This record gives sequence, C-alpha cells and structure tokens, in this order.
Amino acid sequence: MNRKPLVVGNWKMELSHKGAIEVAQAVKKLLSKIEVGIDVVICPSYPQLPAIAELLKNSQKIHVGAQQVHWEESGAFTGAVSLSQISPFIQYCIVGHSEMRELTSQTEEQVRDAALILLKHGLTPIVCLGETWEEHQQEQTIRKITQQTEVLLSGVTRTGLSKLVIAYEPIWAISAQGTGEVPDPTEVSEIVLLIRKLIASRFDTEGAERVRILYGGSVGPDTVSSYVSEPGVDGVLVGKASVTPMKFFEIVKAVQDHAR
Ligand code: PGA
Repeated sequence: MNRKPLVVGNWKMELSHKGAIEVAQAVKKLLSKIEVGIDVVICPSYPQLPAIAELLKNSQKIHVGAQQVHWEESGAFTGAVSLSQISPFIQYCIVGHSEMRELTSQTEEQVRDAALILLKHGLTPIVCLGETWEEHQQEQTIRKITQQTEVLLSGVTRTGLSKLVIAYEPIWAISAQGTGEVPDPTEVSEIVLLIRKLIASRFDTEGAERVRILYGGSVGPDTVSSYVSEPGVDGVLVGKASVTPMKFFEIVKAVQDHAR
C-alpha cells in the first residue's frame, strides 16, 4: 500500500496574526518553486484560520489544519471551539496534542471522540500519542502507546482508517520541554510498528497499511531524514521549526526526496 507522505507544521501559539500571514505567504512562495508530491499541512491558531484558508484557497500544495477541536459538536463549553465553527477553513486537525491534553485534562475517550467527529465530517484527524519522560524511564512506553491506541481504535470504523493519521510524539522529545533528548530513529520505528500491529489485530493488515503514522518531537532539517528513512514512518509533525519558513521548506524537501 502506497501511503502519501505527510508533513504537518504545528504553529502552536507562536505567531501574531500578522506573523502568521507572513509565514504562510513565505511557505507558499517557497513551495511554489518545487513540485510537491506529498501532503503538506500548516496548523495556525483558530483566529488565523479564515485568513490563511483564503490565502491558500487556490494552493494545491498546502492544506490547512487546526490545532485542536472539542469532542462535543456543540454545547455550553465557554471558550471552546467546535468542528462546525472551523470546518469551512480546514481539511486536517491535530487531536490530543500533549500540550492541550495537559491544559484541559482530556481523557483518552475525549481525544477519541474528537477524532471521530472529524472522521464523521470527512476531515482528517492527526491524533497525537506519546509517553511522558517518567513513563519512558520506567519502560512504560509500550504499555502507554498500546492503551492509547486501543481506546482510539475502539471508535474508528474500517472506512475511517484510510483518513486517520496518528503521530507518535514522545512528550519528552518535544522541543519546548527542553530536555534536549530525542528518541533514536530505530525506537521510533519500533513504536510505529507496534501501532500498526495493534491496528492490524483489531482490523486486518490491509486496514493497518492504510493509516499514516508520523513522528513528532524536535524535528528539524538536520534530523528529519533519519526518521523518515525508518520503515513505516510516513512523515513528521513539526513544531518549532515550522514557524521558520526556510526550515519548514527544507523539511518538506527532505521528506519528498526520501519518498522518491
Ligand atoms: P517541536 O514540537 O517540533 O517543537 O518539538 C512538536 C509538537 O509539539 O508538535
């Protein structure tokens, strides 16, 4: 099964409104110079979505994603944002990012439900899974990822599998955590393999082969190739480096070169 590689830029809360437009324009310009045979997604903050969707509306090369969506379709949730409020502007949405999980104490079931709402409306969830530093030290990674994957899969249908994206992001490897540590690419490959095996045992191998699985955590132009060269790693989720257009462009190029 040929899965299309995917590079996702998670802009977090790093940019002002003006800054976000400038970065989007710069990325658009850089990508206009090359053939892009992979999927590229940028994820600005909510208020920037309409302007950036407008800016990229004729671009076949860059898709727009949100960074989070509520797991209920509507209701009395002050400050929250539902899918119907952002769906005109996005094709993708990050779900269960560790920073948001921590801020809002989301359960695995709520993360799953947010992913299910996106799938139901034909949009692509990018579901983040990953272990903490303590869990990593205590060799609990396999247990944690298994538990997270099983809850997620408990609601996904076979048709949903071809839209589902999973990002393995060890929380301790995210640059903002400041540990300076990253996993060895072979460790990442083992976890990606584990996730695919779990999908295969719930569905079948063919179903598991449809799901794109990314790595995220301190990815930069110098490290991206080592991760995407590993078997089963279909792309990367990039935070810090994604708000520097040249770095993001180099990451996209590296993933694309690897895919050739
Ligand atoms: P990072 O962030 O690339 O800055 O480590 C990744 C993420 O949090 O999605």
